[in-house]
Amino acid sequence: MRHDHLITSKQLSRADIETVLDRAAEIDADPAAVADRHANAVLGLLFFEPSTRTKMSFETAMKRLGGTVIDMGSVESSSVTKGETLADTVRVIEGYADALVLRHPRQGSATMANELVDVPLLNAGDGAGHHPTQTLLDLYTIRENAGLDDLTIGIMGDLKYGRTVHSLAHALTNFDAHQHFISPESLQLPREVVYDLHQADDGVRVREHDSLEEILPSLDVLYVTRIQRERFPDENEYQKIAGEYQIDLETLEDASDELTVMHPLPRVDEISPEIDETDHAAYFEQAHNGVPVRMALLDLLLSENGGDRDE
Ligand code: NCD
Repeated sequence: MRHDHLITSKQLSRADIETVLDRAAEIDADPAAVADRHANAVLGLLFFEPSTRTKMSFETAMKRLGGTVIDMGSVESSSVTKGETLADTVRVIEGYADALVLRHPRQGSATMANELVDVPLLNAGDGAGHHPTQTLLDLYTIRENAGLDDLTIGIMGDLKYGRTVHSLAHALTNFDAHQHFISPESLQLPREVVYDLHQADDGVRVREHDSLEEILPSLDVLYVTRIQRERFPDENEYQKIAGEYQIDLETLEDASDELTVMHPLPRVDEISPEIDETDHAAYFEQAHNGVPVRMALLDLLLSENGGDRDE
């Protein structure tokens, strides 16, 4: 891994992805071996949007590597309410931390922040843009359950505003993966993402559908997403879509027994709880994989940036 930041999954080659996933698998098998590896490291958490999994798994990951975290806390309790700009906030916090994790509602915010700081910066979600660390744990989960090559994946739900989808789709072009995108017309993948995917992949392995039915039997993985209500400019538009594209046991009748169902979580009502107890469900495992994968990523970035005090 030769990057000192992670802003979009477009910057990741297949070799980069495999380096992180292999390291995560090693750490997962023997977490005690890295318990003091970054004993003096400080990770700065800057979350300008709600987060449960991403923030807590970054925190767990840093602590399990022996380091510690500092957390800006909620926007309401920070100097942001006094009018501080994002640019000033990141420039200040970089002086307190060895690496920064940023989540912000504005698309492009991580790219801007990265230009201002010298410590490694990880994009934990920029509006409807990208969420590359989620992608790495998604890929880890896919690799464990279905394998990354000769993969047929269906990605369903809010493909327009879903940043986890944009990042995952780009990353999958590094592998022998057939990608099927299932959504209502109004929530299709942004055309620029489709364009990029076609550029990366000659378009032969990317297909768009408005119904799951026709494609379900051929899928190895079904990646379901939440309709991103908070990003709809008009609540009425959300209400028209809400409740569509849900799956339950009946929906999965025509699926392969081997189908892996994933979701970045939080879910609202996209996946019926009756699926949780089946062998299809991999979404809680997926969320748990956030810890070894983020440990691997932090280990690689901090080691490259002089943060590795063991060697
Ligand atoms: C996602 C996000 O924040 O983009 N959640 C996550 O990080 N696991 C998905 C979502 O909010 O629907």
